[in-house]
Amino acid sequence: MGRLRGFASDNNSGVHAQVLEALANVNKGHAVGYGGDEVTARTIDKFRELFGTSTDVFFVYNGTGANVIAIQAFTSPYHSVICPQTAHINVDECGAPEKHSGCKLLPVQTVDGKLTVETIAAYMHGIGFEHHSQPKMVSITQTTELGTLYTIEEIKQIADYAHQNNMYLHMDGARISNAAAALGCAFKEMTVDAGVDVLSFGGTKNGLMYGEAVLFFNHNTDAVKYIRKQTAQLHSKMRYTAAQFEALLSNDLWRKSADHANKMAQKLASKLKDIPQIKITQKVQSNGVFAIVPHQIIEPLQKEFFFYMWDEHKSEVRWMCSFDTQEEDINDFVELIKEKVAQTCQRP
Ligand SMILES: Cc1ncc(COP(=O)(O)O)c(C=O)c1O
Repeated sequence: MGRLRGFASDNNSGVHAQVLEALANVNKGHAVGYGGDEVTARTIDKFRELFGTSTDVFFVYNGTGANVIAIQAFTSPYHSVICPQTAHINVDECGAPEKHSGCKLLPVQTVDGKLTVETIAAYMHGIGFEHHSQPKMVSITQTTELGTLYTIEEIKQIADYAHQNNMYLHMDGARISNAAAALGCAFKEMTVDAGVDVLSFGGTKNGLMYGEAVLFFNHNTDAVKYIRKQTAQLHSKMRYTAAQFEALLSNDLWRKSADHANKMAQKLASKLKDIPQIKITQKVQSNGVFAIVPHQIIEPLQKEFFFYMWDEHKSEVRWMCSFDTQEEDINDFVELIKEKVAQTCQRP
C-alpha cells in the first residue's frame, strides 16, 4: 500500500489547517454572491497592499482558467504568445488558451524552462506581415515547470524587451509563493515592479482547497469580468474563494508554507547526492527535484511513494514537495531508493 504522502505534485497535498479554518469561519449566514461580499472586498484590498493600489484582482477556480483569462484580456485571435516549450499553457491545458483566445502559441525550446531576450527575439518575425500571426504576449512561468527560477533582473529584461516590441508580459505564477520565498523578495518586486502586466497568482499548490487569482497591474480591466464569465470561471459563492486567499496572505502563511516546501526539496536533493545512480538534472531552486533514475526502480518506488515520470525517454522523473511534506517522508523515500538501487542496479 502506498504512503500517506508522496512526491507527485504539490496539488496532491491537502488543505492547510488555517485555510480550512477560514472556510469554516466564513460559512455563516448569507452573503451577496459573485464577489459582492465583504470578504471578497477585504481580500482584494489585501492583494493591493502586497502588489500596489493599481492592481485589479479577479478570483477564478483554477490555473488553466487564470492563464486563459490573462491571455484573452490582451490579445486578439490573430496574435501569438511566445512561451517556453515546457509551459503549462503549451503542454498541460489541453489547448484551452488557443481555444479561448484564438492565439497561436509559439513554443520555445529551453534547457531549463526559462526564456531569455535572445530566445524570444528569434521568434519575432513577420511583424506587420498579414500571413503571420502577430506576437502580442510573452508568457513566463515563475517558478518554472522545471523548478528553476527567474531572477528579478531576468524578468525586467524580458519585460523591457516585450514592451519595446509592443507586447505584454504574462507570468504564470502557479508557484509564485515558492518563487518569492526562494528569492527572499516581496511579490511586488518580482512582478509589477519588474514590468509584469498580468499575473496568474497560484493558491491551490500552496495549501488552498481551490482557487487562483488573476492580477492586472496598471491596466484597464473593464472587459475582464465578461471574459471571466464567458470562460466559466466566475464563482457564485465567491466568499469561499476569497476567504482562503485571505488566510493565505495573512501572517505570512504563504511564505511559511512555500519556504517549507522549498526546504524539503533542498533536503531531498542533498540526500540524493549520496546515490551515484541518481542524476539530478535541473538546479533545485524551489520545491521540485528532477532526476534521471534507473528505469527498473521507478515502478517499485511509485508503488510506495507516488510520483510522475517526466521524460520516459530519458528515464527522468519529477519529485515535488509540498507545504505538508515531512522530513520523515524524505528520509523514508531516500532509504527506499537506496534499497531498490542496491537490489536492482550494479554500481556504475
Ligand atoms: C505552471 C502551472 N500553471 C498552472 C497550473 C494550474 O493548473 P490547473 O488548471 O490544474 O489548476 C499548474 C498546475 O499543475 C502549473 O504547474
